[in-house]
Amino acid sequence: MTDQPRVIIFDTTLRDGEQSPGATMTHAEKLEIAGLLDEMGVDVIEAGFPIASEGDFAAVSEIAKRSKNSTICGLSRANFKDIDRCWEAVRSAAKPRIHTFIGTSPLHRAIPNLNMDQMADLIHQTVTHARNLCEDVQWSAMDATRTERDYLCRVVEIAIKAGATTINIPDTVGYTYPFESAEIIRMLLEKVPGADEVIFATHCHNDLGMATANSLAAVEAGARQIECTINGLGERAGNTALEEVVMAMRVRNDILPYRTGIDTTKIMNLSRRVSAVSGFPVQFNKAVVGKNAFLHESGIHQDGVLKNVETFEIMKPEDIGLTAKNIAMGKHSGRAALRSKMKDLGFELADNQLNDVFVRFKALADRKKEVYDDDLVALVADQAANT
Ligand code: KIV
Ligand code: ZN
Repeated sequence: MTDQPRVIIFDTTLRDGEQSPGATMTHAEKLEIAGLLDEMGVDVIEAGFPIASEGDFAAVSEIAKRSKNSTICGLSRANFKDIDRCWEAVRSAAKPRIHTFIGTSPLHRAIPNLNMDQMADLIHQTVTHARNLCEDVQWSAMDATRTERDYLCRVVEIAIKAGATTINIPDTVGYTYPFESAEIIRMLLEKVPGADEVIFATHCHNDLGMATANSLAAVEAGARQIECTINGLGERAGNTALEEVVMAMRVRNDILPYRTGIDTTKIMNLSRRVSAVSGFPVQFNKAVVGKNAFLHESGIHQDGVLKNVETFEIMKPEDIGLTAKNIAMGKHSGRAALRSKMKDLGFELADNQLNDVFVRFKALADRKKEVYDDDLVALVADQAANT
């Protein structure tokens, strides 16, 4: 796996994630999350949007100063003032990056009321300006997936010629399909002069629930940077979830043979911290990090995992840093799971005792959604007292 090409993981929890209504984080919380992302092996941390507020500027500057291994990136619109402010914030990082963007689709071109030529000219000027300040410049064609293909090729070529080192192709409104996401990257790599000298990035939103699939399809087609957030935090239905793309590339490395620099055992802790500081709970059945992602309640599944965990688990909980037990006791649970659970709790029950406790357990489980360890201990005590 170490010989495999590397996919750059670009985390934007602190920028696109924080833009999610209600997800605002304090300065101290941002520094904590940035430190954890750096330790986890995230290649690029998008730390904020420096011109947006004094608070954002201060957070990006401090994260830049404290950064150890990750590149620290700030976002800026397509104007010199934004770009200068961004550079001021990120310049003290060991590895700084300026990220500048503009909406290239017809809907987005209409907002600043620029025609195609005027916008192309602005892209040339702003990317050139950013590149005069910083060696590492990322340019994004916001709403790329709804931009006319010929125009997208044209502006990508301009950005590359002006010195962008990473070209990001955002699916800003979560509109694309996996095959289309791949097709766009393939087209750009084939048609745009100089495309082989830059990194193509994929930045997907989850409005139709396809962000992870679209990101992986883009990698399959040649993108080498995935932009994502912890828990998929982000505007509207969120962004591509870091934990999903990283674990997908790990679990199905046979079909998508790329490696990342992520220490996956740190995923669960980051998920919990981001949920706590953003105030966004993680849905129970969320892929990889949901409370139920490794839990089995039905008798058939419990029996299977007790005999061979691979029957119903495609990843190991410890690979994402989860140590808790994977058996949930409820009304669908069977005798095998009860025996195993009792053993964990220190009770070696004879067959007749187990049968008796099992009847009591089923009666309780019919009344209660989840039966906890304390309930089981009480059932054993009750059984002993009444026989
Ligand atoms: O979704 C998007 O287009 C963005 C850009 C600013 C990169 O977040
Ligand atoms: Zn976005």
